[in-house]
Amino acid sequence: MMDDIKEVLLSEQALAETVCEIGKKISEDYRGSDLLLVSVLKGSVVFMADLMRAITIPCSIDFMAVSSYGSGIKTSGVVRIIKDLDSEIEGKDILIVEDILDSGKTLSYIQEILMARNPKSIRICTLLDKPERRQVSLAADYKGFTVPDEFVVGYGLDFAEKYRNLPFVGVLKPEVYE
Ligand code: IMP
Ligand code: MG
Repeated sequence: MMDDIKEVLLSEQALAETVCEIGKKISEDYRGSDLLLVSVLKGSVVFMADLMRAITIPCSIDFMAVSSYGSGIKTSGVVRIIKDLDSEIEGKDILIVEDILDSGKTLSYIQEILMARNPKSIRICTLLDKPERRQVSLAADYKGFTVPDEFVVGYGLDFAEKYRNLPFVGVLKPEVYE
């Protein structure tokens, strides 16, 4: 697996430190509220698992799955719900947990359909942000790292469903997907 990686962008330690800081910030900001963390499957599971343990206030978790990419590396623009939330979100403070904010299409779609269910609030927490690739105007409320416009894998992020289990975030060698 390591042979397909051009460079390590974010080490295990850098990820752990940043996730811990975000968890602290969320714990302060949401003190006393009815917080529901919504993880967008599958890319955000590793981030979600670490982030929720860095949050020190009571909260619930739920999962949602959408598809926008297939096995390619460019967004199709078509977002489809594959798995909806189990719980009602009316009156709750929703924090959407994502792996990466790229074109922004996936998150703006998710935000729109959740908004229609009358939550008290909706915010976005993304581990990675690729602002150069944005196609819809959307900013994260909590962000781990800004990354360059290169295809990254690891710590939950995949290429064709592989590399999610790498403990760091790395840049994939272009010859792997070209
Ligand atoms: P968006 O709708 O273009 O913002 O795409 C968001 C989704 O695309 C993320 O949740 C990822 O699953 C996927 N994605 C975007 N960029 C990358 C990348 O560099 N590596 C792996 N997955 C990516
Ligand atoms: Mg994803």
